[in-house]
Amino acid sequence: MAHQVRAVVARGKGAPVSLETIVVPDPGPGEALVKVEACGVCHTDLHYREGGINDDFPFLLGHEAAGVVESVGEGVTDVAPGDFVILNWRAVCGQCRACLRGRPWYCFDTHNARQKMTLADGTELSPALGIGAFAEKTLVAAGQCTKVDRAASAAVAGLLGCGVMAGIGAAINTGNVGRGDSVAVIGCGGVGAAAVVGSHLAGAAKIIAVDIDGHKLETAAKLGATHTVNSRETDPVEAIRELTGGFGADVVIEAVGRPETYKQAFYARDLAGTVVLVGVPTPEMKLELPLLDVFGRGGALKSSWYGDCLPSRDFPMLIDLHLQGRLDLDAFVTETIALDEVEKAFERMHHGDVLRSVVVL
Ligand code: APR
Ligand code: ZN
Ligand code: ZN
Repeated sequence: MAHQVRAVVARGKGAPVSLETIVVPDPGPGEALVKVEACGVCHTDLHYREGGINDDFPFLLGHEAAGVVESVGEGVTDVAPGDFVILNWRAVCGQCRACLRGRPWYCFDTHNARQKMTLADGTELSPALGIGAFAEKTLVAAGQCTKVDRAASAAVAGLLGCGVMAGIGAAINTGNVGRGDSVAVIGCGGVGAAAVVGSHLAGAAKIIAVDIDGHKLETAAKLGATHTVNSRETDPVEAIRELTGGFGADVVIEAVGRPETYKQAFYARDLAGTVVLVGVPTPEMKLELPLLDVFGRGGALKSSWYGDCLPSRDFPMLIDLHLQGRLDLDAFVTETIALDEVEKAFERMHHGDVLRSVVVL
């Protein structure tokens, strides 16, 4: 039986998204049909709609989602109908070299649902990041579903499926922030603010938030930043050094994705410190550094993929900490909106006063 549901579709490059009726098939082997309860609006959705990812229009947007499993296909044992789940981008194979070495976020053989969701006229949809959750129901691989405690709000849970996990994971997984460390976070949008929260969770003694926007710095301070630096007014490298006794931070997390902020991150770390790159640059961006500085400063330059997370380990843990009051995630939900307000949320992204707009169904 196919399901007809309402969904947000990007039909062509740069065109505003439209609310459409789509057809979602029943789950095939290894798949799950999920009744979506909430889905955050992420920059990557806007990139899809602008044609910045690829040209496989029409796209079914939305990928930061939580919902309830409605039915499962043959052979699915890890999740069952009624489970409250957070969706992740890709079901990993568990068998390739990356998976076997314990780094499934680099898996060579990830797969999404094989059955296709379509427009009413039968045109195949490309689900954003293999999910497509700005929809009342969506079809995913069962391996993309992680069961978490039902007591969490769907809006908060969904955010762990992308931006918030990317930021928290950059701190606790990639950066390996530890008790007493000094951390600087450059760029405090949704991802950077989550890196602040992750650093706080990990017990960092000093958390220096850097942004060009005063509102973002205020939010970062509420979320655990011990110092804020407005890099429109102050040289952030100087400021971070000054705040760390002249040395630089143990871990610097870059969450903007621009050459100048990559460079700031590089020079703001202590000798042998770690730089974690979460901000995604565009293909044409370049960075030039004196080789002697690269050699002489030691330490590590790491990029963070999806917060280097293991969904089955990290999602339930973070939801539990949140429910215990030890991890403030409510602040990330700036506003809840309806399915037909996604285009408006894209416009609001440019104003800088939103960490996340979340569609609640
Ligand atoms: N210096 C410091 N902060 C800056 C600068 C700059 N030169 N330019 C922009 N910013 C700040 C913005 O003010 C904003 O607060 O960076 C933040 C970016 O946040 P968002 O636009 O909300 O983006 P976010 O969702 O947090 O993602 C950040 O991480 O995962 C990647 O693809 C994502 O590259 C993007 C980055
Ligand atoms: Zn995202
Ligand atoms: Zn694999």
